Amino acid sequence: MAKVEWSDHFCIGDDRVDQEHQDIFELVNELQSAIDHQESMDKLAMMLEKLAEHTIAHFQHEESLMQDHAYPGLDRHKHCHDRLIQKVTKLIQQFQTGETSAIQNLMNFLADWLRHHIKGEDQKMIQFMQQKHHQLTTVGKAGELIGI
Ligand SMILES: [Fe+2]
Repeated sequence: MAKVEWSDHFCIGDDRVDQEHQDIFELVNELQSAIDHQESMDKLAMMLEKLAEHTIAHFQHEESLMQDHAYPGLDRHKHCHDRLIQKVTKLIQQFQTGETSAIQNLMNFLADWLRHHIKGEDQKMIQFMQQKHHQLTTVGKAGELIGI
């Protein structure tokens, strides 16, 4: 079982990123239900592809946010994304060649990874951006006060 239950605990303070995480949780849960109900390989493969597409698009979104904010942890964070994609790609290939147990391994791994990554790297990234935004607005307001 690799269900991931969404709760506010996983909200990291950016509405769009939070929504994307929530969507990924839903896709993980739908896929886990399909596995539990022993749906066909074709159906599982289609759902897996959808999950992979969403995850990659979400990673690209986070990486462009980090780039836009000159986030110093970009390389480290991107490395985590790249390693996840490599691992998932390998497990998908094993699944496609008939290793059906690979999909459950993938789900367990992904559920665990998501929980830790969101509360770790993603949270650090958003905190940095919020701090930066706060500094900019504080400087802006101070500038207005002293007339610059
Ligand atoms: Fe991330």
